[in-house]
Amino acid sequence: MRKLRLLVLAVTLSVSLFLWATPEAVYADNATESELSEITAQWKTSAHALADVNCSSCHQDQGSKAFVAHPNNESCRTCHEAETDTFLLGKHGIRLLEGQSPLTPSKARLAMKPEAHSKQMNCNACHDVHSVDTYQASVDSCMTCHNDEHSLNYKNSKHSQLFLDEESLERPSNISVTCATCHLPRETSESGSKVLANHNNTYNLKPRDRMASEVCMNCHGMEYAFNSIFDNDLVKSNFARPPNIHLKSFDMIRIFQEKRSGK
Ligand code: HEC
Ligand code: HEC
Ligand code: HEC
Ligand code: HEC
Ligand code: HEC
Ligand code: HEC
Repeated sequence: MRKLRLLVLAVTLSVSLFLWATPEAVYADNATESELSEITAQWKTSAHALADVNCSSCHQDQGSKAFVAHPNNESCRTCHEAETDTFLLGKHGIRLLEGQSPLTPSKARLAMKPEAHSKQMNCNACHDVHSVDTYQASVDSCMTCHNDEHSLNYKNSKHSQLFLDEESLERPSNISVTCATCHLPRETSESGSKVLANHNNTYNLKPRDRMASEVCMNCHGMEYAFNSIFDNDLVKSNFARPPNIHLKSFDMIRIFQEKRSGK
């Protein structure tokens, strides 16, 4: 028993040391050298490397210090609590919150890419964990699974063009409109010090006037936003043309205002 414990300690220690010294040596048995150098290159230019978040920040258990080959959401949560907590409340994450197996496209009612059927939903499903490139996460990642008309039509929209025009930026700016702009809306954190993406992908769906006022009206007028979002065919086309419907309530407001101003 004592010998076993010593052995475990020794292995743990050497792994910890290796993690600081030469990551290659630790991962060598489950990744090829070229995979490792690719991963290291992706990490080197990432926001994580710039912030001193290194291999062991994720690949080492914070409590036991043991080496973790495939870190899960908990490893991200130690630093990104708000994203993890909101993720767990939406359709994407709720199964994990309830202790069930992760959501997979095979369980979906909506159309999904056939090749993604067994892809498990977690942070890695959208984030390349080593590059943490938010540009890729904002549209391309969604399209690895989603295959319905609305999602497929996004590429035909003016919104998509705004986004493509920014390809050289590190993060999508506030003037482009990605899938995430509408479905994982940016919000100011409770302390007011940071703008974070609300990862609850259900939050903004219903009622539709929530998205109209919290997202569309950052850029469009109220009438245009409401006429667009209540036009079902326009939603299906992913806003690839101006709205056709004309909500009567805006006429009523205008008549009311004209009466008040005595016109
Ligand atoms: C932000 C957290 C994070 C950092 C930093 C990080 N990794 Fe990872 N790494 C992960 C996660 C999460 C996985 C599991 C991915 C999966 O299961 O799809 C992973 C998987 C791996 C794998 C297995 C890849 C595979 O396809 O099976 C290797 C090898 C690896 N990481 C090496 C490294 C090296 C080397 C570094 C430092 C240069 C590093 N990682 C930094 C989170 C991280
Ligand atoms: C040790 C703390 C730590 C851990 C663990 C960690 N991160 Fe980070 N992450 C950071 C810091 C610091 C930044 C820099 C930006 C900031 O100030 O939030 C960051 C930035 C990011 C960004 C934004 C990248 C950008 O270009 O702006 C993403 C996405 C991200 N992390 C995802 C993850 C995921 C997914 C995991 C788990 C696999 C993870 N992080 C684990 C600390 C961490
Ligand atoms: C791993 C595959 C996968 C990825 C990646 C993915 N999704 Fe999903 N998403 C799903 C599945 C599965 C559902 C459930 C669909 C159903 O039940 O019919 C879903 C549901 C949704 C819903 C509906 C939520 C609800 O409450 O009905 C929205 C909106 C959504 N996803 C947006 C996105 C966006 C935006 C992205 C990219 C930022 C994305 N998804 C990335 C698999 C994925
Ligand atoms: C300009 C805002 C906007 C953009 C951009 C956008 N969507 Fe949506 N999306 C909506 C609205 C509005 C709905 C309908 C909400 C409702 O009433 O259910 C919707 C619905 C959905 C649904 C749920 C469909 C259902 O029937 O339950 C999914 C999945 C989805 N969007 C994925 C995506 C993906 C993936 C992208 C990017 C390729 C994207 N959306 C881009 C606004 C947007
Ligand atoms: C459905 C796809 C999807 C999933 C799943 C997902 N993310 Fe994100 N995440 C994004 C997108 C897209 C952005 C960038 C949004 C933006 O900039 O508008 C983002 C941004 C972030 C950022 C940068 C800071 C911020 O809030 O904008 C962090 C950190 C992050 N995610 C962590 C996580 C963690 C941790 C998990 C798992 C618990 C996770 N993400 C799961 C799509 C996803
Ligand atoms: C970050 C700013 C921004 C946000 C947020 C935004 N849009 Fe747009 N939208 C634009 C811009 C810019 C255009 C292109 C205008 C042009 O070229 O005439 C546009 C175009 C459109 C068009 C017309 C498409 C066409 O082909 O003429 C519709 C409809 C539309 N948006 C609806 C919406 C709806 C609905 C929402 C919210 C769910 C929304 N937008 C969110 C900036 C935004």
